Amino acid sequence: MSAEFNGKTILITGAAKGQGRAVALGFAKEGANIIAFDLGQKIPYPAYNRSSNEDLEKLKEDIEALGAKAVIYAGDIRNEEDVKEAVERGIKEFGSIDILFSNAGIAAYGYSWELTSQQFDAVIDINFKGGWLISKYVIPHMIEKKSGVIIYNSSIAGLRGMNRMSHYASSKHALVGLTRSQAIELAPYGIRVVSLHPTGVNTPMNDGLAELEGTTPEEIAERSAGNLLPVPWIETEDVVESVKFIASKKARYMTGNQFVLDAGLLTR
Ligand SMILES: NC(=O)c1ccc[n+]([C@@H]2O[C@H](COP(=O)([O-])OP(=O)(O)OC[C@H]3O[C@@H](n4cnc5c(N)ncnc54)[C@H](O)[C@@H]3O)[C@@H](O)[C@H]2O)c1
Repeated sequence: MSAEFNGKTILITGAAKGQGRAVALGFAKEGANIIAFDLGQKIPYPAYNRSSNEDLEKLKEDIEALGAKAVIYAGDIRNEEDVKEAVERGIKEFGSIDILFSNAGIAAYGYSWELTSQQFDAVIDINFKGGWLISKYVIPHMIEKKSGVIIYNSSIAGLRGMNRMSHYASSKHALVGLTRSQAIELAPYGIRVVSLHPTGVNTPMNDGLAELEGTTPEEIAERSAGNLLPVPWIETEDVVESVKFIASKKARYMTGNQFVLDAGLLTR
C-alpha cells in the first residue's frame, strides 16, 4: 500500500459489479474515500444486467471492512438529476473528488441494420453520454482545486470495429473524442483525462453476453479477435492496477491519450 491515494476521493460509476467494484475495493485498500454510483435495479436492455441495491449495500460493507469510507448512490447514469445529486452528496461527505473513473456500461449484439432505435440509444446514452454527464458535474470541483484525473473506461472496441456491436464500438470510439477534447480544455487547470482500453475482462458482462447468445464466455472473448498473449481474457485486478497507475503521479504527464490493456489483441 502506498500513501498516494490515502484520503483521496474517487467517484466510480458502474461500481456495483465487475471492473467498477474491483476498482472501488482496490482504492479502498489504499485508504481512498469511495463514491460508488450504480443502477441499483434491473434495466430492460440488455437482459443480463441484474445489479441491485443489495450489490451496492454489499460494496459499502466491503469497503468499510477495509477501513475506508463509502457513499453509495443508486441512480441511472442517463438521469441528470441522479448524476448531479450523487456528485453533490459525495462532495458534501468528502469535500472533493480527485479521481473520476467513468465506467458504467452495457454491451449487446445485433447487426447495425437490425438494432432498434431504443437499443442504439441505450448503448450510446449509457456508455458515452453518461460519461460526459458525470464529468460535467465533477469537472467544476476539479477546476476549483486545479487538479484531478478523469479516466473513461472505453474498450478495445474504442479503437477497432466490432462485428454485430456497432452501437457499442461507436459509443467507445466517442469516448476517445471526449477524452482528447477535455484534455485540451482541462490541461490549463492541471486536470488529466485518459481513456482506458481493456481487452475482454472476466466480469458479469462477459458472462451475460454469453448467456444472451447461448454460448460460453470463452467464445465471447474469442469473438473480439482473440488476444495475442495466450489468455482468453484479463482479470479485474489487471484493470485495477492500470487505473491506479493512470491516476498516480507516475503518470503525471499522461493526458489526452489512450491506455491500451489488450494482451496484444490490437496487434493481430
Ligand atoms: N467485460 C469486458 O470484457 C469489457 C472489456 C472492455 C471494456 N469494458 C467496459 O468496462 C466497463 C465495465 O464493464 P464490466 O465488464 O465491469 O461490466 P458489468 O456488467 O460487470 O458492470 C457494469 C456495471 O455498470 C452498471 N450500469 C449499467 N448501466 C448503468 C446505468 N444506466 N447507470 C448506472 N450504472 C449502470 C451495471 O449495473 C453494472 O454494475 C463498461 O463500460 C464496459 O463496456 C468491458
